[in-house]
Amino acid sequence: MGTETLFDISLTVNGVVREARVPARRLLSDCLRHDLGLTGTHVGCEHGVCGCCTVLLDGEPVRSCLTFAVSVDGHEITTIEGLAAPDGTLSPVQRAFAESHALQCGFCTPGFLCTVTALLRENPSPSDEEILEGISGNLCRCTGYQNIIKAVHRAAEIAAEENGAGVPAGSHRAVTEES
Ligand code: FES
Ligand code: FES
Repeated sequence: MGTETLFDISLTVNGVVREARVPARRLLSDCLRHDLGLTGTHVGCEHGVCGCCTVLLDGEPVRSCLTFAVSVDGHEITTIEGLAAPDGTLSPVQRAFAESHALQCGFCTPGFLCTVTALLRENPSPSDEEILEGISGNLCRCTGYQNIIKAVHRAAEIAAEENGAGVPAGSHRAVTEES
């Protein structure tokens, strides 16, 4: 039996440099969960359909089940574990989802939170249509989408209240890094 070649990679995950030794076909989702112990990123379909595994790659949402870990060597990843402030204060998007009852089982929630964080950073005050388009790659099997849409509007409000009108909503970490 041949031995699989392993590659040393270095990722900045939630602001911290993390190293891993992985085979070429190691998925980013598996690398995060199994190699780095960040199990907040969920894996549902493993086929790029459900959006559960969405993380931010250099600020842009990507499906970590369709991304090879070696292909993002040297890049910056934000997972659900990195959305709250360092003192544990939930981000506007996290608070809005809780307040608006935008989750039930929570399995899809890490993916939604990452997607919505990026969406509001791009568009701090989206319309219903823009929200629907923005979350069209994320499936929720139990909450229904009404409360999720409500939560996105609420997150936009909270971020505007906290940061002043015109400042993009995003994670606390993103705001800190940008300021
Ligand atoms: S687990 Fe990645 S899209 Fe479903
Ligand atoms: S809250 Fe259960 S799948 Fe979305």
